[in-house]
Amino acid sequence: MVSYKELGLVNSRELFKKAVDGGYAIPAFNFNNMEQLQAIISACVETKSPVILQVSSGARKYANQTLLRYMAQGAVQYAKELGYEIPIVLHLDHGDSFELCKDCIESGFSSVMIDGSHLPYEENIALTKRVVEYAHQHDVTVEGELGVLAGIEDDVEAEHHTYTEPDEVVDFVTRTGVDSLAISIGTSHGAFKFTPEQCTRNEEGVLVPPPLRFDILEEIEKRIPGFPIVLHGSSSVPQQYVKTINQYGGKLSDSIGIPEEQLRKAAKSAVCKINIDSDGRLAMTAAVREVFANKPAEFDPRKYLGPAREELKKLYMHKTESVLGSAGKG
Ligand code: G3H
Ligand code: 13P
Ligand code: ZN
Repeated sequence: MVSYKELGLVNSRELFKKAVDGGYAIPAFNFNNMEQLQAIISACVETKSPVILQVSSGARKYANQTLLRYMAQGAVQYAKELGYEIPIVLHLDHGDSFELCKDCIESGFSSVMIDGSHLPYEENIALTKRVVEYAHQHDVTVEGELGVLAGIEDDVEAEHHTYTEPDEVVDFVTRTGVDSLAISIGTSHGAFKFTPEQCTRNEEGVLVPPPLRFDILEEIEKRIPGFPIVLHGSSSVPQQYVKTINQYGGKLSDSIGIPEEQLRKAAKSAVCKINIDSDGRLAMTAAVREVFANKPAEFDPRKYLGPAREELKKLYMHKTESVLGSAGKG
C-alpha cells in the first residue's frame, strides 16, 4: 500500500472548499503520456493553479497503471523544480468498480470517481457507499455521479441526456457520504457534443449550442448549498484547432463544444471541478498535423511532440486564467 501522502499529493477536500467559497473551479485534465503531463504541470505552475490529474481506465490500459502513478509522483517533483509548489490531486476518472477504486487508492491515488450513473438508483448508492467507506479509511476523497451525460463514456453510449434529478441529490449525498457530485446538465463527452440541428446560428453564422441547464444547477444548489459539484464533458472544442486539423488533412465535421462563457458562469457557482480532455486532444492533433504537413522530412518525435506540448500548455494556461478562474489560487 502506497499512500498518496508519501508522494506529495493532496486529496480534493480543501481545494473544493476554497473553490466553492472563491467562485472558481479546479481544472481536471486527463493525461495518458509524458508530454500531456509536462504541459499540464508547467501551465499550472506558471499560472499558480491547483490541478487535478485525471487517469481514466483507458489511460491505465494505454500507458500502464504503474507508469502513470510514477509519472504523477514525478510531477510533484517537477512542479517543485519549476519553482512553485501547487496542490496536485491524482484522480481516477470514471471508476466503474469497487476493485478498480481500491486498486487506485492502494497505489497512491488521492481521489477516485465511482461512476454508478448508469446503474439503477439503489445500486448506484450501494456501490458508491462501499467505495466511500473504503476510501475514507485512507483519507481519499470520492466523486459520485447522478444523471447520465449523452454521448460516449468509455464503452457506454447514451443517446440522450438524463438530467440529474434535483430531488434525489440530498438522499444520494447523505446516504453515500461522497465528497463531490458529478451532475448532468447538458454537457457531454467528446468533440461532437451537439448536432448542427440542435444549434442556432448567430449573426456571424457561427453555430451556437443550446445553453446548459443552469435552472437544474440552481435547484441542486438550493438542496445541497455549498456542496462541491463536478462537470464532466466540459471541452469547448476550440474552432481554431478544428480548422487547423482540417486544413492539414484531417476530417472533422460538426465538432461543437460548450461555450467558454458558460463554463465561466458555472465555475462561479458551486461547480468546483471541470473536466477537460477532448480540447487537449484537439490541440495536440492540430500541432502534430501542422508539423507533418509543413515539414514532411521531419521524423524525430520531439520535433512534433514538442510543438504539441507547447500548444497544450497554452491551452491549459488559457483555461486556468480565462475560463475556470483557478489561476493564482494554488
Ligand atoms: O470521460 C472520458 C475521458 O475523456 C477519458 O477518455 O476513456 O478515452 O481515456 P478515455
Ligand atoms: P471532454 O470530452 O468534454 O473533454 O470531457 C472530459 C471528461 O469529462 C473526462 O471525465
Ligand atoms: Zn467524464
